[in-house]
Amino acid sequence: MRVVWRRLSLGLVMLVTSCGSGTPAQPEQLALVPYPASVTRLEQGFTIESGDTVTSAEPAVAAQLVAGISADTGLELTTGPTGRIRLDLDAPQAGAEGYELTVGPGGAHISAATAEGLFRGAQTFRQLARERAVPGVRVSDRPRYAWRGAMLDVARHFRPVADVKRFVDLMAAYKLNVLHLHLTDDQGWRIAVPGWPNLTTVGASTEVGGGPGGFYTAADYREIVRYAQERFVRVVPEVDVPGHTNAALAAHPELTCDGVAPEPYTGIKVGFSALCPGKPETARFLNDVLKELAALTPGHHLHIGGDEVEKLSPREYAQIVELATQAVTANGKEVVGWQEAGATVLPPNSLIQYWQTNGGPEDVKRAVAQGAKVIMSPASRVYLDMKYDDSTRIGQTWAGTTEIDDAYDWDPATLIEGIGDDRIEGVEMALWTETVVTMNDVELLAFPRLPAIAEVAWTPQSQRSFDAFATRLAPLATVWDRWEVDYHRSPRIAWP
Ligand code: ACM
Repeated sequence: MRVVWRRLSLGLVMLVTSCGSGTPAQPEQLALVPYPASVTRLEQGFTIESGDTVTSAEPAVAAQLVAGISADTGLELTTGPTGRIRLDLDAPQAGAEGYELTVGPGGAHISAATAEGLFRGAQTFRQLARERAVPGVRVSDRPRYAWRGAMLDVARHFRPVADVKRFVDLMAAYKLNVLHLHLTDDQGWRIAVPGWPNLTTVGASTEVGGGPGGFYTAADYREIVRYAQERFVRVVPEVDVPGHTNAALAAHPELTCDGVAPEPYTGIKVGFSALCPGKPETARFLNDVLKELAALTPGHHLHIGGDEVEKLSPREYAQIVELATQAVTANGKEVVGWQEAGATVLPPNSLIQYWQTNGGPEDVKRAVAQGAKVIMSPASRVYLDMKYDDSTRIGQTWAGTTEIDDAYDWDPATLIEGIGDDRIEGVEMALWTETVVTMNDVELLAFPRLPAIAEVAWTPQSQRSFDAFATRLAPLATVWDRWEVDYHRSPRIAWP
């Protein structure tokens, strides 16, 4: 029987069978997340075996695919010049991250214009190969948004490099491409900066709840960047100023207005700290910190925070944020800021990150009027630290509880009136870690919402429905068990 999926103009998916048997046994959609832009079922696929060879003009991508299939299935594939699984740079029309994937009885072929496109296609192939019998299929795919991010707060609770790498692996499997590291906050400073030694000897030694904290050396940070780059994830570092700075102020009291160091802070309140406006040390600090981050970060963007400042007048706030944004520009990078930064003068090509549905749209509109594009991070949808329901063992509830359908079932283009896809750079989930102590905690809050939000960011809106997603999501749990990933067994999904 030949089974073909066709997309109708209304975005419905219709099963077309060419043999008249009337008994299409195929599930509605292949269990792929994020679902590709276009999927056509073909008659026959092949069964992948240990010893199968991956052939590619991009050997690093081939090696990643071999490692991914091993993690998913236990099969040991190899790389070499003649294999049944071929990755070629022969689809110039596919765009920066797009790809074509064809699976037939002779094997699989992934075509793209870039190594990144091949890598994205390889993630789709991994999902198809999960149970070894790879179905015949033709996929043509590219992302809805260029920015598909996840923020990890390593300030409230520090995460060692190995944990960040595991998080990158989990992101990359779902075609996410931006790791936003929230490196500094009231409870800890996590990156070494030349000339400011106490940031690490003092500022890094605390975390929420009184644990030991920690920080990344330049070598640690470079290793995270390298590992992420290998998986086509770029790192966007955030130093949050002018608020959320108690750890820096405790470490270097010359940054306070009265020169007195505040007590280190290990609670979970916000809004009480700020750099001192008008002090030359403030400008020197911002220049030194952003210069170092620019030097360590190959990506285009540095995030300057800007959220939740209660201790400064609007004029003082703008003065410090503009010092920070000018330092970003002076070091050849572009600015990302939380929505509040929309009240300041932004450099060209800035990105503004929407997070708070209550009051945020006005700040975002001010930024957009200056030419900024928007990253959508509505707390009630994509803040992974919100509990799923009242029984979730960790997490917060200030933006509500967020079950899997809440995380999935929204359209970024209808969130803020007048801001459609032409002004939206992408979607980013955020995992704040006030209540998140271990890597298991990270995983429990991220799964299954991370794949859900990855699909919001990747898949055309016309291809998305929660019911179809729920059916595709359920079988992925088998792989999460193999990866030993903790996940929330949402009652809204029929898990295996
Ligand atoms: C934020 O949640 N304060 C950006």
